[in-house]
Amino acid sequence: VGMPLLDARGRPLRDLRISVTDRCNFRCGYCMPKQVFGKHHEFLPHADLLSFEEITRLARVFVALGVEKLRITGGEPTLRRGLEALIAQLAALRTPDGRALDLTLTTNGSTLVKKAASLKTAGLNRLTVSLDGLDDAVFQRMNDVGFPVADVLDGIRAAQAAGLGPIKVNMVVQRGVNDDQILPMARHFRGSGVTLRFIEYMDVGATNGWRMDQVLPSHEVQRRIAAEFPLVPLSASAPGETAERWAYADGGGEVGFISSVTQAFCGDCNRARLSTEGRLYTCLFASRGHDLRGLLRGLEPVSDEQLAGAVAGVWTGRTDRYSQLRGTAEAMAEPRVEMHYIGG
Ligand code: GTP
Ligand code: 5AD
Ligand code: SF4
Ligand code: SF4
Repeated sequence: VGMPLLDARGRPLRDLRISVTDRCNFRCGYCMPKQVFGKHHEFLPHADLLSFEEITRLARVFVALGVEKLRITGGEPTLRRGLEALIAQLAALRTPDGRALDLTLTTNGSTLVKKAASLKTAGLNRLTVSLDGLDDAVFQRMNDVGFPVADVLDGIRAAQAAGLGPIKVNMVVQRGVNDDQILPMARHFRGSGVTLRFIEYMDVGATNGWRMDQVLPSHEVQRRIAAEFPLVPLSASAPGETAERWAYADGGGEVGFISSVTQAFCGDCNRARLSTEGRLYTCLFASRGHDLRGLLRGLEPVSDEQLAGAVAGVWTGRTDRYSQLRGTAEAMAEPRVEMHYIGG
């Protein structure tokens, strides 16, 4: 095992997030608002998507460079046909010193009743489900396709029953939209073995009409929870983690706060993102990616060593720290990629 690959700010490459489709069956206003992603929106044609073989080949190259965690994202990743076959290929990868990877997936939960067992059988280790409220009126207004809360909760139960734990639930908090759901969500998931994490609404992409006054700072979310259930801090479980972790003082499990807006965590960000069509993004807010599919499909065959060289070249030049620069002229001058296209 060689020296870890470091970027221009001394940060290693540990986490690869792979988007397998730009489609979704939800239309969350903060991600794919209907006015933009309506009936006539054109998604990527199938030939533009990386094949499972191409994804696995690139993942193997990233793992050789130090990646230890793979997260499958979308859009809604479980809409990609035959996803289990990709999971099986990724589950077979090993780190240079022979360890299995942390292989996980982020889903809106809508397909889990059907798919939890087959995802587990294919080799998925664990799962994160997005859920923004427990009240149907609030949740259906947010997903904007009338999807009921009960079906997501059934999906979470199916995932637990399939052994896809420990499960995390991510809730994006928008002030005035679903902040009345914070306490109901905390009460519901306390003691269930599910870790609930609150995400500050972020200015990803250019279509969601983000406004700072819709961000409810994590310290306020935490204050509301702690007023009912005392919390004690936990230490980070991995360097560069997104969430600050807290435990219920009475042993009811843990909650997390992902505070990209009020407490940027770029300092030790070790995440790379591979878009649906094979571009490498070194930040969730990047304005452009680096085309790896072109190398894979070029007229000249490319070796794994050449691919590794290309990825290493991008990573060593990486300076991204958008959340620390948010609001500055430098950060706001550039366009930002859409989240459904590179995944959370
Ligand atoms: P665990 O390993 O389960 O803790 O997952 P994770 O926190 O790495 O990944 P997850 O996809 O659950 O991330 C939760 C949310 O945090 C995402 O949906 C994003 O909204 C946000 N997020 C994740 N990574 C980043 C990042 O690098 N920068 C910013 N600004 N937000 C991020
Ligand atoms: N701000 C914060 N989180 C977001 N997500 C999508 N868009 C945003 C945003 N603008 C989250 C989803 C899901 C994951 C894929 O990313 O809620 O948990
Ligand atoms: Fe779909 Fe997730 Fe985006 Fe909602 S946040 S539209 S569920 S990809
Ligand atoms: Fe990493 Fe960019 Fe998020 Fe900062 S804003 S934590 S650099 S992905």
